[in-house]
Amino acid sequence: MSLHPRASSDVFVPDESNTRLLRDAFGRFATGVTIVTAAAENGVAAITANSFSSVSLSPPLVLWSPDKKSRRFSYFEAATHYSVHVLSADQDDLCWAVAKDVYALNDRGLHLNAEGVPVLENCLARFECTKTAVYEGGDHVIMLGQVNRAQMREEGDPLAFFKGQMGRFTTR
Ligand SMILES: Cc1cc2nc3c(=O)[nH]c(=O)nc-3n(C[C@H](O)[C@H](O)[C@H](O)COP(=O)(O)O)c2cc1C
Repeated sequence: MSLHPRASSDVFVPDESNTRLLRDAFGRFATGVTIVTAAAENGVAAITANSFSSVSLSPPLVLWSPDKKSRRFSYFEAATHYSVHVLSADQDDLCWAVAKDVYALNDRGLHLNAEGVPVLENCLARFECTKTAVYEGGDHVIMLGQVNRAQMREEGDPLAFFKGQMGRFTTR
């Protein structure tokens, strides 16, 4: 039996009938926003992802989770290398462009790194990775990557994502 919360503080049991509620509850976790890129036969494959997380310092590992149902999943499944770009607050246009179109970065003249991955400049941080493991994660997979090279910028606010909306991080 599924429970339909009357108030936002009601407890619910996640099931097939209320995935929207679970999505909304997950959305209470404020995150940054990244763009992950990989080389594709027809140029740059890119995806906007907020599932990024740092994992380990030694060895240097990060993760992100692509949706198995995504039309662009096969690019990231096939890629041995990819690059994760942490977006700054003024990059929301890029975030939405990539969310809509896997090839949104094709005409932006991205440089290739040593492993042939197209990389963005001027992000808050960049993690150039070798894929080291893929774990089952329900309708997503968890991709673990070893960071071969990292880069960061001192100045700039992060693009923040909360309750389905973009915003800014402010310090107290
Ligand atoms: C802020 C934001 C975060 C997202 N995070 C993820 C993510 O972590 N993993 C994922 O597979 N898709 C994520 N998406 C969705 C993809 O960016 C993209 O919109 C989706 O793959 C489009 O569907 P398609 O690949 O079938 O064209 C996110 C989208 C937005 C706007």
